[in-house]
Amino acid sequence: AKKIIIDTDPGVDDTIAILTALRSPEVEVIGLTSVFGNVPGEIAAQNALRLVELEGHGDIPVARGSDVPLVFPLEKLGTWVHGEDGMGNTQPPAPKGKVVDKSAAEFIVEMAHAYPGEVTLVPVGPLTNIALALRIDPGIAALIKEVVIMGGAVANPGNMTPVAEANIYHDPHAADIVMAAGWPLVLVGLDVTHKTIITPEFQQMLFKAGNPAVELISKVLPCYQNFFNNLYGLNGAIYTHDPSAISYVINPDLFTTKDVPVFVETEGRCVGQTVADWAHQWEERTPVKVCLDVNSEGVLALLKERLTA
Ligand code: BDR
Ligand code: CA
Repeated sequence: AKKIIIDTDPGVDDTIAILTALRSPEVEVIGLTSVFGNVPGEIAAQNALRLVELEGHGDIPVARGSDVPLVFPLEKLGTWVHGEDGMGNTQPPAPKGKVVDKSAAEFIVEMAHAYPGEVTLVPVGPLTNIALALRIDPGIAALIKEVVIMGGAVANPGNMTPVAEANIYHDPHAADIVMAAGWPLVLVGLDVTHKTIITPEFQQMLFKAGNPAVELISKVLPCYQNFFNNLYGLNGAIYTHDPSAISYVINPDLFTTKDVPVFVETEGRCVGQTVADWAHQWEERTPVKVCLDVNSEGVLALLKERLTA
């Protein structure tokens, strides 16, 4: 199995992504690292603990990460999308476990050295912890197997602003450091996450399985559905953000990618925009893989199989 660390700001779709990963034999979740974003950092860490415990994996370490972006002051969080508690305002019970005694960035550096060439990072929140890990030890760029990010958009419009996707927007400086690090990197952005739609019918089908994972999902979804309905008129359907990144890790063949250098705008009105330099007109930068198309039926079939098991 692929060793993965999910860096996350749970978060409703983070929740679905993490539960899917914990139920997939292709991946071994060796840790969760939490970050501010959808919710304040403290709540993100608590939710990460709740999720591993729900699946009977209280032994998986959770390392608490950053509460603020690298450069900008903390602005708007995603609580209006995911609820004040990141769990759709369902006020879940307190977790039993505790976060480990090191920061998310330190944990990532430690795992990169413990398993050289084996660890896949799956950031599905703002990229602050990943940039901080590179700052502690730039050498991890050569040790990490792959970085699979839910974030950005190169052809699609943004969701936070007309040009910026939320995870990149929340810490554009960190995102640019991560894009520039020269490691094997995949962007699973809005270009594909908007192509896989979890309809109300699909949700009902999931809920019938009646296991703790889908029970939790059924509770946290309504708040999240409101956001998609207000912004896109989706009538109870949701786009598939963070679970698409996990799907890529499990089966990259579900996605069509192109290699291109990506830059992140850190100033002005277009802050947080991910710019793909198709014609290599800017300074040199190692290309990353940008997902441009997806077998959305394949992704949905995978989610169905894992979450209803
Ligand atoms: C991303 O932003 C967050 O709201 C979601 O959890 C996802 O990671 C989508 O733009
Ligand atoms: Ca997220």
